[in-house]
Amino acid sequence: MKIAVLPGDGIGTEIVAEAVKVLKTLDLKFEMETALVGGAAYDAYGHPLPEATLKLAMDSDAVLFGAVGDWKYDKLDRPLRPEQAILGLRKNMGLFANFRPAICYEQLVGASSLKPELISGLDILIIRELTGDIYFGQPRGRRIATDGHFPGAEEAFDTMRYSKPEIERIAHVAFQAARKRKAAGTEGRVTSVDKANVLETFQFWKDVVTEVGKEYPDIALDHMYVDNAAMQLVKEPKRFDVVVTGNMFGDILSDEASMLTGSIGMLPSASLNTKNQGLYEPSHGSAPDIAGKGVANPLATILSAAMMLRFSLNQPEAAQRIEAAVQNVLAQGLRTGDIWSEGTTKVGTAQMGDAVVKALG
Ligand code: IPM
Ligand code: MG
Repeated sequence: MKIAVLPGDGIGTEIVAEAVKVLKTLDLKFEMETALVGGAAYDAYGHPLPEATLKLAMDSDAVLFGAVGDWKYDKLDRPLRPEQAILGLRKNMGLFANFRPAICYEQLVGASSLKPELISGLDILIIRELTGDIYFGQPRGRRIATDGHFPGAEEAFDTMRYSKPEIERIAHVAFQAARKRKAAGTEGRVTSVDKANVLETFQFWKDVVTEVGKEYPDIALDHMYVDNAAMQLVKEPKRFDVVVTGNMFGDILSDEASMLTGSIGMLPSASLNTKNQGLYEPSHGSAPDIAGKGVANPLATILSAAMMLRFSLNQPEAAQRIEAAVQNVLAQGLRTGDIWSEGTTKVGTAQMGDAVVKALG
């Protein structure tokens, strides 16, 4: 088993170091190889996703990813910006299925900005299509281009598109996930989020998801416009079970959902292709404002490593061990700044990682 470790930028290096520490504590045989990605790779090689980094990722069973991006790259041409690295990995590896669970840890109910009764026990799963939609539509650009930065441009455009097979495969992923969750006690519902009242692409999305849904009579299906979904997520988040949506809406709704739980610093994510090769990353970004200070919350990355063990490396017991260790450190009252509250103990990034290692036993 081979893991490509791509820490990236900002707090990426600090949080990935803690996840690697945790992985090394497990008695498992795997090879880990680290490479630069994002702004760090641009600084060293002039490209955010160098050939060698892409090859390492493609040749590995799983990628453990930190985060990319920093304001200092905002002036670069789009193909050279750090974000292109993650988009390139998703596209080249065919990582079409993005799992973003939003789980409220009981000890952190108070860290949410919502009333405790609204989020206590929350356990929803956002499934975001990751390799299509307006993110990858062609053509894209600005008209009246006069040079790389289009200073004379008077309009800009991106094309939203989805093909039937793209929608079908993500719909199957969502229904199957709902079925698995139902077996473990959830309601068994998929909510497909669209904007069918305005966009052809999402009327098509809705039609295709409805067709696929007929193959899963045991799973309830409802449809919701994205604006309403954004509202329902804060009004009554527990009404959701599995949410499936396109790349753009999924980007936005998953950030919103993550914050329901109190901290985006707690939420892992998995991006899978058809071979179960996966990229695992925290749901949050590179947070350049707190980078290098040793205060970032490493738990989302540590929990992403657990997802990696479960989904791509077939080590469910090890995954379970990590998740239990995270529960344990929360129960001990240890908190990084983002989830700290009166009466708990504030710790830094490395202290949190050490505590998880210790809790593994
Ligand atoms: C995410 C991020 C990325 C996205 C950026 C960094 C390209 O926001 O993973 O949600 O928009 O998909
Ligand atoms: Mg995002």
